[in-house]
Amino acid sequence: MFTVIDHPVLSAWTDRLRSTATGVEEFRRLLGQIGQLMVGPATTELPTSPLTIETPLTETTGRELRGGTPVVVSVLRAGNGLLDGVLQILSDADVGFIGLVRDHETLEANEYLVKLPALAGRHVLVVDPMLATGHSAVAALNRVAAQNPESITLMCVVAAPEGVEHVATHHPLVRIVAAALDEGLNELGYIIPGLGDAGDRLYGTLS
Ligand code: URA
Repeated sequence: MFTVIDHPVLSAWTDRLRSTATGVEEFRRLLGQIGQLMVGPATTELPTSPLTIETPLTETTGRELRGGTPVVVSVLRAGNGLLDGVLQILSDADVGFIGLVRDHETLEANEYLVKLPALAGRHVLVVDPMLATGHSAVAALNRVAAQNPESITLMCVVAAPEGVEHVATHHPLVRIVAAALDEGLNELGYIIPGLGDAGDRLYGTLS
């Protein structure tokens, strides 16, 4: 399932990210804030269990997350820009990392790091700001899905239709949430209009 979150602040912050007038410091801050804003809509499907709570005044019934706080998996590098914000909200989450680098000729994703906590039976939130061809997302999701988690949600900021389709084909049960759905990809695999290379803009490695 694919959902574009319709929220004025999220859209406005995302569009600020796109602008070439946005420098590293602002880009980093905005991406973290977007991560915070997206946690709510990205976790609406999480199941809860009833819970008895003693308030200072009385006993009442509330709810707690069934299965605990979702595990957050960041797809390096750019995923770390969202991760910081996500962890402001899911502050006790276990965190995994998958390092992927894009081959600029073939647009395939080459894996250089996998460091994951145990995922079996848990809810997993994979964070990567750009869903372009979907090759990196599918490579990361393959790793996550191999451990049989209870559910997987992919959080991205800007998605291209090609990437959404690629992920939906390979991982039909994965829930994809995005802040924007753009027009498509150029011949180099960049999202149009997009925001350029999210990792370069986040870490100031633009040449
Ligand atoms: N990765 C990015 O950072 N930007 C794109 O436009 C596509 C992939």
